[in-house]
Amino acid sequence: MASGDAAAGRRGNGRMLEERTRLLREVRACGTLPRHVAIIMDGNGRWAERAGLPRLEGHRAGVEAVRETVRLAGEIPLEVLTLFAFSTENWSRPAAEVAGLMGLLELSLRREREELHRNGVRLRVVGERGSLPHAVRREIERTEEHLAGNRGLLLCLAVNYSGRSEITRAMRMLAERVREGQLDPGAIQEETVGGFLDTAGLPDPDLLIRTSGEQRVSNFLLWQLAYTELWVTPVLWPDFTPHDLLRGILEYQQRERRFGRVAVPAQEGALRG
Ligand code: FPP
Repeated sequence: MASGDAAAGRRGNGRMLEERTRLLREVRACGTLPRHVAIIMDGNGRWAERAGLPRLEGHRAGVEAVRETVRLAGEIPLEVLTLFAFSTENWSRPAAEVAGLMGLLELSLRREREELHRNGVRLRVVGERGSLPHAVRREIERTEEHLAGNRGLLLCLAVNYSGRSEITRAMRMLAERVREGQLDPGAIQEETVGGFLDTAGLPDPDLLIRTSGEQRVSNFLLWQLAYTELWVTPVLWPDFTPHDLLRGILEYQQRERRFGRVAVPAQEGALRG
């Protein structure tokens, strides 16, 4: 790069940083931070196709967007950030892509563990981990253990996750308790069901972000999204920047959450979870 270009690059980066700081200040000033943001990270494949690259390169570029997003989520600060990393339906993709995605998960957990720890992040994984490759399960367990004592952002990764399957597994456990006489069917409340889900103990997402313009929930957190605000951006996941996350939150802060009733200020809704 010529020295003039490098200087222009630095000026550009400086402007980006200024804009990030300005947006972050604006989000904090609004005083209505979401507790839990969930993201469907979509568009890696299209990003790669547009760049004339193999699909896996799109996922690789997506990991960079994950890193930036997690860093910012802790800074805002959010309590919980849930990322849809691999759906149960994703197993039907070409074997090389599945293997590539599993490899990226394994590598990312191993590489990022120390930085996550320095930033006080904890990890929780939702979904059926039993059928994940051994190496991925091992990195998940090591990372969970390593970060267990932290008190900052809870990073929740949905891996081999499907909302219907999560609810079905919860129903099986409930039925088992009823059969063993430990649970009276008449005493089952919404909280009882929530307590059997993979996300037990977490507040429901306040905001769901989906990238790449698709307007679907795609079997993600079906129970938990009941009153979640949705924000869809056309940006493809590898191009998703901290600015986009902050803009999504600013948009959320303008919404009026009614929970099926009359107007409730967004902050009150967020506090209720
Ligand atoms: C959807 O894009 C994205 C995925 C199926 C995987 C998301 C995974 C990552 C961002 C990398 C690993 C994650 C972590 C947490 C380290 P798509 O392939 O469906 O895109 P398309 O709709 O354009 O084909």
